[in-house]
Amino acid sequence: MSASQVPLITIDGPTASGKGTVAQRVARALGWAWLDSGALYRLCALAALRGSVALDDEAGLAALAAALPVRFADGRIELDGQDVTDAIRDEAVGNAASRIAALPALRAALLGLQRNWRRPPGLVADGRDMGTVVFPDATLKVFLTASVESRAERRYKQLIEKGFSANLTDLLEDLEQRDERDSNRAVAPLRPAEGAVVIDSTHLDIDQTVARVLGAYRHRVRR
Ligand code: CDP
Repeated sequence: MSASQVPLITIDGPTASGKGTVAQRVARALGWAWLDSGALYRLCALAALRGSVALDDEAGLAALAAALPVRFADGRIELDGQDVTDAIRDEAVGNAASRIAALPALRAALLGLQRNWRRPPGLVADGRDMGTVVFPDATLKVFLTASVESRAERRYKQLIEKGFSANLTDLLEDLEQRDERDSNRAVAPLRPAEGAVVIDSTHLDIDQTVARVLGAYRHRVRR
């Protein structure tokens, strides 16, 4: 099976829309791999912060991304042999990730790495530009969204559960800024891919959202 024949579901959407959890659950249900592309941007941000590469040094960041010493194993993520699964979830890292993600050379440096994830039996890839740029020939493209208030509440709960401190008002402001930056950047702006199924999860729980995605996939392959 050539890479382009490997079935693929892309799930794009704004920050804290639940993409990651939904993508992971859909992948598990189908027995496929899961690519968390946001983790790659977060890893680059963390590597830059730790290695004192400035967040506006486009060439330096692209070089760093092209040789990213990352390993994904058993649900854990290692950077240079160190477990950074939790460290990359820090809001400061998320913000830095959103800033460097606007740099075209960095995005280009991560393209090959992302496309390499497409292997049998299938892949679920979540992010901002999975359906628009990285995998435009995906079998099913989903755009997952929710109101900014419900996303802020979800992110708040997630951070508290992970032991981080958080403030709901700050988070709301932060998400609005990130939405604005992700949607208005010149390269790979956040927007539904052509032909994407749009799912608004404001009033759906995770199980219902996963069921919608699986239903849309079954519908797509039956045609
Ligand atoms: O958790 P959250 O949705 O905020 O972030 P994420 O999915 O872990 O991604 C971190 C940042 O990387 C986002 O704020 C985006 O700016 C950027 N990103 C991107 O530009 N393209 C992707 N395919 C994935 C993430």
